[in-house]
Amino acid sequence: MAIREIIEVPDPRLKLVSEPVKPEEFNDDLKLLVEDMFETMYAAPGIGLAAIQVAIPKRLLVIDLQEPDMDAEPIKDEDGNEHPPIKNDPRVFVNPVITPETEEMSTFQEGCLSLPEIYADVDRPASCMVEYQDLDGNSHKEHLTGMMATCIQHEMDHLEGIVFIDHLSRLKRNMMLKKLRKLRAA
Ligand code: NI
Repeated sequence: MAIREIIEVPDPRLKLVSEPVKPEEFNDDLKLLVEDMFETMYAAPGIGLAAIQVAIPKRLLVIDLQEPDMDAEPIKDEDGNEHPPIKNDPRVFVNPVITPETEEMSTFQEGCLSLPEIYADVDRPASCMVEYQDLDGNSHKEHLTGMMATCIQHEMDHLEGIVFIDHLSRLKRNMMLKKLRKLRAA
């Protein structure tokens, strides 16, 4: 496994529309790529990563929300404070297709590993249906809500060459890009 370089805005590759993973590409190379994507995402750290963010224009996403496990025994940190351990739930979506299932929108503050230190509220459909393939090429269909629905819509956007600030007003987007340039210069 290896940590790969995450490409950042304004890298033009982030505007590419990613290509489907072909039937003959469900092989060990694909599994290795997914392992690298997880390692890269956890190290960043982040909760989702699209293949194009490591410069591979394929319709492939990994997600692990890494939410606190409220059912587990709390653990003590170095300051002696107790908190629930993180529950890992690594998910792989190959050739995902999403369909919004509701008019209801939800708003989450989003960030992106390709836009470090930039955060903004984005409105998206509150739930969606995702059809996707697993690493063996088997098809699945799943109903997603909450943070998972938002996260997969954010990652799906990457496959279409869209980043989350593209959902903001031009004024707000330009503010974010200016902030990004300032952070880089610092
Ligand atoms: Ni992103």
